[in-house]
Formats: sequence, structure tokens, C-alpha cells
Amino acid sequence: MTTKQTVKKIALLTGGGDCPGLNSVIRAVVQSCILEYGIQVVGIPDGFKGLLENKFIPLDLLNTTGILSKGGTILGSSNIDTPFRVPVIKDGKKIYEDRSDEVVQHLKQERVDAMIVVGGDGTQSIAHGMSQKGIKVVGIPKTIDNDLNGTEFTIGFYTAVTTAVEALDKLHTTAESHHRIMVVEVMGRNAGWIALFAGLGGDADVILLPEIPFDLNKVGNYLNDLYHSRKKYSIVVVAEGAKPIGGDVTVSKIIEDSPEQVRLGGIGHRVAEELEKITGRESRAIVLGHLLRGGAPEGFDRILASRFGVAAVKAVVDGKFDTMVAYRNDNVELVPLETGAGKNRFISPDSAFLQTARHRGICLGDS
Ligand code: F6P
Repeated sequence: MTTKQTVKKIALLTGGGDCPGLNSVIRAVVQSCILEYGIQVVGIPDGFKGLLENKFIPLDLLNTTGILSKGGTILGSSNIDTPFRVPVIKDGKKIYEDRSDEVVQHLKQERVDAMIVVGGDGTQSIAHGMSQKGIKVVGIPKTIDNDLNGTEFTIGFYTAVTTAVEALDKLHTTAESHHRIMVVEVMGRNAGWIALFAGLGGDADVILLPEIPFDLNKVGNYLNDLYHSRKKYSIVVVAEGAKPIGGDVTVSKIIEDSPEQVRLGGIGHRVAEELEKITGRESRAIVLGHLLRGGAPEGFDRILASRFGVAAVKAVVDGKFDTMVAYRNDNVELVPLETGAGKNRFISPDSAFLQTARHRGICLGDS
């Protein structure tokens, strides 16, 4: 008996923060399942929340037509819910319960043979936990942050970079007119991939990354030299997770029920205020925030999503479970799911992208 005959139904879930390209991956998984292998697909709404609530939506060629180019996810998503830590009120007190056995039952009742889980490090960590409970799982990496261990690119990253670059292009003209310093804060959690790529593509003068704690006096001196030598305005890109030497990250919110409780944000305004004091020049901050998660996916993300979707279905058919598809050296490969589960990938000091910034004379806040 071939695996093709044993796997009859797949459940598909998008978890964590949304990003452009999720619908592209849904489309690819559905097409490959139905057209290539005759496998049925059900979608789970709102990430692991839907699985807890025992909700399944049949997905077919018709209801996934026209979605490939749309932002967001038709399935919905959640970056709060996990079956391993469900908040419940007991005797007037909030406690957390492990309800993973319940969701395993839901999948069995629905006669799901395997799951494809599209998510970042948090979602893949839950997926790995499900796998340890006997569920057959294959993961697909997505996040605008591009910080998932084991893969060079995640779905959504390139679109976020393109959005940031377009914003920077616009900020150049207003900054130039007013001879101002514009500080642009971008998302990315504790990794600086979006900031680095946006800064490279959007011609920033300064890029501040979580991986390189900064000294604002050095940045101020750099900007003053620039002002007096050749350029009357400046663009500073700061990652939301960037921090001063010896200092800490700027937290915007704590979400108690979320597996990842800390939400970062606010460093852009702090940097702008400080730079205004140090340089004596007018500075303004702008936070791109969730704008980076919105809109239609770029071509690269659509194609990456297609490759990941098709490869994940093949992994299911081949019986290669507890794995994650990953982009490595232009190939899509399978890595153990554990590789991406709760583990991040940061910019290393010898990163070619980082070196490119240094060679272009861009200030990285450390010299
Ligand atoms: O992981 C994606 C991401 O957009 C991060 O860049 C950001 O820190 C976080 O999610 C924001 O989360 P929320 O949507 O809960 O504000």
C-alpha cells in the first residue's frame, strides 16, 4: 500500500502573526493535494484556536481560486492560542490548562491523517509538540521577521522589505526638503533582518539592529559629519528590537496569555529624541508596524509559498513527518521540525548582507 493511499485527508492551519503569502501557500497545498494526489484538505480557522474549538472548513479548488495574490490568510490566524496553555477562569482565578489531548481527539474525529502547519517559531514549537503526541505534522516557515532557524527565507519577509523600502523612498523626499533626520522603526522582534534589508534597499544612512547594540553618540557624530560634508538630511532605520549598549529593548505591551508575551515597540521615538538632542537638528520618528504585514505578496513570496506548499505535501505523501520545509542554497529541503521549533536565526557578524552595509559606509551604531 502506498502512502498516497494511506493519507486521505490533510488539515491545514496558519498560525502566529499573519503575513503576505499565506494565501499563496494555501492555494499551492490545495492544488497539489487535490490535483496530484487526490487528497482531501480541510482548513482550521484562526490557528490553534480553531482546533481547540473543533472547527474545520473544507478547502477545494473552487474556494481557493483567486486567493494566491491576496494578503492575509483566508483561514485567519492567532499568535496567542496554544492547546498546551489554555487560559481558564477557575474559582475566580486565571489558570492555564494543557488541552492538547483534546485537540488530538478533534483531529481523530475529523479523520485527519496529517497536518500541515504554516507558522513562525512559536507555531512550529506547538506543531512539534503535537508531533510528539503522535500527530503526523509537516511545518512550513512563514514570518515577516525572517528569524526562523533552519531556513534562509520565510514566506512574507520579502514583501515586508519591499513595503519598508517603498516607505523609505517616500521619507527621503520629505526629509530632504526639511533637512531633517527621519527615524524609521520596523518590526522584526529580536532579529534585524527587516531593518538590514530595508536599510540596504532604501538607502539608509544608519541601520540599528538588535544584533549590534548601539551608541547614539557615535551615531550623532556620524550624522553630523554627514551633514557638514555632503548631505543635509538623514534616514535612520531602527529595528524594534534594537537596544543601546548596556541597555534593554523597548517594550510596548505585555500579553499575558500569549506564549511570546512581550511585544516590542517605541525605540524609534526614543532614538529620534536623543538624536535631536545630540545633533541639534530636527528629528522625526515613524513606526511602520503592522503595515509591513499587510498587502499583496510580492512575486518572490508567491513563488516561495508555492515551492514550500508543494514540498510539504510531498513530505506528507512520502511519510516524512515531524519535519519542516526550508529554503537553503536555492533549494527547498526538509529539516527536522525541532530545527525551527521555538528557535531563531539572527544576523551573524560575518553575514554577507551586514558586510555589504559596512562596505557601503552605512553606520551600524557601533563605530
Ligand atoms: O512576528 C511578526 C510580528 O509582526 C513581529 O515583527 C512583531 O514584533 C509582532 O509580530 C507583533 O505582534 P502583534 O501582531 O501581536 O502586535
